[in-house]
Amino acid sequence: MTSRLHLVALSCTILLAGCRSEAAPTSDAPAVAAASDLEAGRYLVEVGGCNDCHAVGYVESNGALPDSLWLMGSPVGFRGPWGTSYAKNLRLTTHQLTEDQWVARLQAGGLPPMPWPAVRALSDADARAVYRFVRSLGPAGELAPRPVGPDAEPATPYFDFVPQHLDRLAAPADSAAG
Ligand code: HEC
Repeated sequence: MTSRLHLVALSCTILLAGCRSEAAPTSDAPAVAAASDLEAGRYLVEVGGCNDCHAVGYVESNGALPDSLWLMGSPVGFRGPWGTSYAKNLRLTTHQLTEDQWVARLQAGGLPPMPWPAVRALSDADARAVYRFVRSLGPAGELAPRPVGPDAEPATPYFDFVPQHLDRLAAPADSAAG
């Protein structure tokens, strides 16, 4: 089983395009019921926490950021073993990609800490509703910086995603505070 999974992963790497269509979201998966695609898309973006990473100031404003400033990406990187990644400007992405390319992009995945498994689990209808809503906000903002490899020092500010003091996990329970 494990080796079969490895084989599947390997063929995904080699035949990415084929895998994307195999993994395409199904149209009979659960989908949000809303008065319109735009409402469904807005709801999914809010519930999915997309602005937490993809909008500067969203977390700091406790979600009160006007939607004109939503999803424009961030120049502050996430640095971990994968290198340094940047939450992309989805307002630009939705104007660069067709709706079908967006659906394929969500399935294809990429670097952490983007929650790829979460967006991969979106039904086809919901993935399209998110696209339509984000696109309706209009193109705005700058492209996010390109990701930086694991051995390179990023020129931007970044969050350090390397866990500290993992040794504390091994501490005996009776020494824990509280
Ligand atoms: C924890 C932070 C975080 C959250 C939350 C998050 N993202 Fe991301 N997202 C990222 C990062 C970082 C990247 C860049 C990944 C890379 O370079 O491969 C990214 C990339 C993307 C891309 C690729 C865009 C492109 O132009 O290639 C899409 C699409 C995307 N995110 C959609 C979403 C959606 C939709 C949500 C909400 C359901 C979401 N993201 C939530 C961090 C996040």
